[in-house]
Amino acid sequence: MAGGKNRVCPVERAGSLEHWLRKLLQNPNGIVGRYLKPGMSAIDFGCGPGIFSIEMAKMVGGKGRVFAVDLQQGMLDRLAAKIKGTKLSSIIKLHRCSENSIGLKEKLDFVLAFYVVHEVPDQTKLFQEIKSLMKPNAMLLVVEPSFHVSKKEFQGTVEKALSLGFKAIEMPRVFFSRSVLLGLK
Ligand SMILES: C[S@@+](CC[C@H](N)C(=O)[O-])C[C@H]1O[C@@H](n2cnc3c(N)ncnc32)[C@H](O)[C@@H]1O
Repeated sequence: MAGGKNRVCPVERAGSLEHWLRKLLQNPNGIVGRYLKPGMSAIDFGCGPGIFSIEMAKMVGGKGRVFAVDLQQGMLDRLAAKIKGTKLSSIIKLHRCSENSIGLKEKLDFVLAFYVVHEVPDQTKLFQEIKSLMKPNAMLLVVEPSFHVSKKEFQGTVEKALSLGFKAIEMPRVFFSRSVLLGLK
């Protein structure tokens, strides 16, 4: 597992990810709403307690799918408790991945990687796997915390993706963050 500042966010910190102020400043609808339509398939990679997964599921609706993927069962359990007995439980598929493999086969329209890529030990392998899951017009939104990831480190991450055949579409503005929307060349 990655060490130092790149260590995996512990389940005990999930509450801060769900804070109302965060949902206001990093509103999932404002951040991903324009990329998702009813019927689409998407991954919320490194979903944590799932504030994005839940809103993404509302956007893709009953004919769509959101794979909420995380390394830690404790994070998936928090999300499971929130959607239990609701319509969202048939849209969101919880999936525990391993440190260096997502392990899904479904083809996707959209991938969100919010505040997770800096925690992944092998970013190149991650981008390769995401690429293999993307439909030709699919998009990948990478958002990293500017308080943990320097501009130079973020550029390094983007360059890894570009060298694998991604293209940068735009750099959307997200509070306290560095972000890039990527597509396939
Ligand atoms: C800082 S949290 C962000 C959670 C969520 N994306 C959000 O913004 O609310 C990072 C999450 O990524 C997960 N994670 C870390 N390394 C991972 C890996 N290699 N594969 C999948 N998930 C990972 C952690 O378990 C944690 O839930």
